Amino acid sequence: MIAAAALWQGAHDALSPGGPAAAAVDGLWRFLWITATIVYVLVLAAFIFAALKRRRPTTDSSESGARLAVIVATGITVLVLFVFLVVDFGTGRKLSAAEPNALIIDVTGHQWWWEVTYPSTKPSLQVTTANEIHIPVGRPVVVRLHTADVIHSFWVPSLAGKRDLIPGYPGRIRFQADSAGVYRGMCAEFCGHQHAKMDFLIIAQPMDRFQDWLAAQRAPADSPSTPATRRGERVFLQSRCVMCHTVRGTPAGSRVGPDLTHLASRETLAAGIIPNRRGWLAGWIMNPQRIKPGALMPPNQLPAADLQALLDYLASLR
Ligand code: CUA
Repeated sequence: MIAAAALWQGAHDALSPGGPAAAAVDGLWRFLWITATIVYVLVLAAFIFAALKRRRPTTDSSESGARLAVIVATGITVLVLFVFLVVDFGTGRKLSAAEPNALIIDVTGHQWWWEVTYPSTKPSLQVTTANEIHIPVGRPVVVRLHTADVIHSFWVPSLAGKRDLIPGYPGRIRFQADSAGVYRGMCAEFCGHQHAKMDFLIIAQPMDRFQDWLAAQRAPADSPSTPATRRGERVFLQSRCVMCHTVRGTPAGSRVGPDLTHLASRETLAAGIIPNRRGWLAGWIMNPQRIKPGALMPPNQLPAADLQALLDYLASLR
């Protein structure tokens, strides 16, 4: 519990929007809520009025008065629903408007983590990371959504609505962060055992810091420079880590699991579930099934010295 509380970070509130897309949804919600509240109060008032009114024998005039009241109420209901329709349509148009200057990011849902790619026409400039999406503040972002397996749903309540990731049918969602900060996102569509452990962070930074981050992520991994990290790299390359993971700059190039080239630069492990700290990483490597039962990563019972060297190596992948 303590770990969960300490780890929980990032704004996560659809009612305090951090950008225009979330603000549009929030505005729509407020309009619907206020209107519905007014209608509710009026209906209750009419009900109380009818209940307290002294009964009189039915006459032709009271009959026609009641008929008129029903017609007027029906007309108002239709009008309110029509206004809802128009306002809702307008919000939808605002959210889906084309954005030629947007930064494009590809996100692929996996059971149960997020692969994040910053595409480039030059393969050497392409960046792949996991569970952490860095974006520049004040610039529109279009996230293209793909899935490697089942249906997931991309949801960052403080920045935008939800959008499903549907097999064979790439989608997209557009948003923008108006101020720097960390926003928490999660999978919002049941996608198997560990659906509840499929979170991610959106880290909005000023443009220059974002560019620095992107440049650092483009670089291949640093070569190990100490005896411990050299040994750790050997452990990594000789164990089954390489069957699933990539570390650019080494022979490890598998794409089954997250790219680890700059693992140490990330805030969390296991899709936002545990902090990226040495002890947690050790526990995750030795027995991921304890933390996330059903995840594809198998247990790795390494000798203690190998594990420590591996942790040194992974910590050097900044
Ligand atoms: Cu992915 Cu729920």
